[in-house]
Amino acid sequence: MNNFEFCSSTKIIFGKGGQSKIGELVKEFSSNILFHYGGGSIKKSGLYDEVVKSLKEAGIKYTELGGVQPNPRLSLAREGVKIVKEKGIDFILAVGGGSVIDSSKAIAAGAKYEGDVWDFYIGKAKIQEALPLATILTIPAAGSESSPNTVLTNDENLLKLGTASPLVRPKFSILNPEFCFTLPPEQRANGICDMMAHIFERYFTHTKNSEVADKLCEGVLKAIINNAPKVMKKADDYDAWAEIMWAGSLAHNGLLGMGRQEDWGSHRSAHPLSAVYGIAHGASLAIVFPAWMKYVYKLNIGIFAQYAVSVWGLSDPIRDEESLAVKGIEVTEKFFKSLGLPTRLYEAGVKESDFEDLSKKATALGDIGFFKKLSAKDVIEIYKIANK
Ligand code: NZQ
Ligand code: ZN
Repeated sequence: MNNFEFCSSTKIIFGKGGQSKIGELVKEFSSNILFHYGGGSIKKSGLYDEVVKSLKEAGIKYTELGGVQPNPRLSLAREGVKIVKEKGIDFILAVGGGSVIDSSKAIAAGAKYEGDVWDFYIGKAKIQEALPLATILTIPAAGSESSPNTVLTNDENLLKLGTASPLVRPKFSILNPEFCFTLPPEQRANGICDMMAHIFERYFTHTKNSEVADKLCEGVLKAIINNAPKVMKKADDYDAWAEIMWAGSLAHNGLLGMGRQEDWGSHRSAHPLSAVYGIAHGASLAIVFPAWMKYVYKLNIGIFAQYAVSVWGLSDPIRDEESLAVKGIEVTEKFFKSLGLPTRLYEAGVKESDFEDLSKKATALGDIGFFKKLSAKDVIEIYKIANK
């Protein structure tokens, strides 16, 4: 096991009714906040009204900034930074999914920085200070509600890049599984795939002797696989959503990767698909992850065979590790298909003539991943597998 430091500092307020406390919770930090949200789902569901009521009751002054798009844009984050600086705002409340939360994190860091917020994403500057922020999560998926990460797309060059700092971990996140009841089937599937992908990025490693992380990953994956069909079938299955929502946070709060080298090559290969084609993040991973698995599994057949047995309960009469590994990948792909997700690039309208440009975008800051270091050429090979 590798050395590590672990601190997942976000307070999670889980269960029914948490949103009614939002005013009181925010008041501990600020009385002048930015209320950041997306394209309108919170207005349709009534959550917007509940938040406004609670903020007003607590005497909190709020400035609204809605309109965050899925795969959030740098331009809106820049606008947020400007507003926050002009109005002396000192706290950000993100109500929505990963896109809203990531945009909030950008604003929180940008507000305390003299230069352009994009500097953090291209590695030109490191986040040294940030405003505190909190979230009300409406879609279990990205895990941003308890992660130190933020991912933005630059509208000018369509680069989708991430950065991380413990300073932008939310102070608290409200997770009420009832918020998931309004999610359309494709968003449910996207979220499920994304949280599984967050575990895969940590599970498939060459690090030896990190059994605790192995078993945590396998356990959370099994809970997701067990409950996913339930929420796909019944949008208001509270108990199943509770499992999925908690799994989504655990998948990405850092715990499951402790003591081992994480990969993240699949995420980075998938990001340009979202930036250029607008493919939802989860769907892009349903396409790329099985292809990545097929490309790299021979480098450590043992971990892929273990995955097939421990997560999917597969067996092989002659105990052939390679055949188990391959079966595990096949079953994963079938599972994504069963959720209605695309698993091939052509299904999502991606053109082969764009592979080179997409691979260059994926590796714009250098080679990616650790399980196998991927160059632009490797990324093209993965795209080719994902297009067969
Ligand atoms: O914008 P609104 O109207 O709210 O609609 C959203 C959006 O269209 C809708 N939605 C959210 N909650 C809903 C709902 N619709 C009905 N009922 C609800 N309760 O769902 C759509 C997708 O929302 P989005 O926030 O984009 O989804 P998600 O949470 O999957 O976030 C994706 C973003 O997170 C990044 C991704 O790259 C992507 O940009 N990630 C962030 C990470 C992090 N910060 O740690 C890690 C992840 O790997 C990921 O990269
Ligand atoms: Zn992800």
